[in-house]
Amino acid sequence: MHENLNKIKNLESSPRIVKNFLNSNEVEKFLELYSKLPVTVNNLKQKVIKKRWISGQGEELEKILRDRIKLEIGNFTMDNINEKNGTECLGLFQESFSPIGLHVDGGFNLKDIIYKQTLLPLSNHGETIIFKNRYHGPSTSFTNTEADLKENSAENFKKGKNVRSSDHLKMYSNEPFDKNNYEKYLKHEDINNLKGLEVEFVYKWNLGDLFIFDRTHLHCSSCNIDGEKIGLAVFTKK
Ligand SMILES: [Fe+2]
Repeated sequence: MHENLNKIKNLESSPRIVKNFLNSNEVEKFLELYSKLPVTVNNLKQKVIKKRWISGQGEELEKILRDRIKLEIGNFTMDNINEKNGTECLGLFQESFSPIGLHVDGGFNLKDIIYKQTLLPLSNHGETIIFKNRYHGPSTSFTNTEADLKENSAENFKKGKNVRSSDHLKMYSNEPFDKNNYEKYLKHEDINNLKGLEVEFVYKWNLGDLFIFDRTHLHCSSCNIDGEKIGLAVFTKK
């Protein structure tokens, strides 16, 4: 678990949409940047293409991103996995062709005071589901699949890869997950893997928005992915 629990909890707040974070011209520029960046990960199993955005690639957009996020959340430090030479990573573009499962993005340094994460949609048709439930441990994928749970969590953590855990099934309530929300948004998950969870917020992606939420919220994509979606995720700490 994170060591600075009280500080982290004191910074927690409700998920929030910032309308008109970018104008349409700026959205175009972000898409151009995305198309130019080299691919970092092309994961056929998860059907996702990831591109890391390193500081210095597109300085105008870097300034827009930093300054406007600061206006919304105050002082912060970026907490994306930096380059080996120390150059800062500004965020991760993800182009997904299938929905991402239940997880939390708590990071890999349990001494950090993790703060907000932001999602900048670069397509108009994704949905992100934020659960009321929170988790104050490292980046974790929550699963009830035996094969996934066999992965070595300590190894994963050391490598900066999500820990696999079923702890969420013991931490909250024994209530079955709401069937209506399941059918609407979460058909890609096993309903038994959502036991005890409650939906806090459904964010419907909209170009130009910035969506901000705490890094301690359990969340996942909705099953309504409509082909593919592109978004920029930025993680912050204090
Ligand atoms: Fe996430």
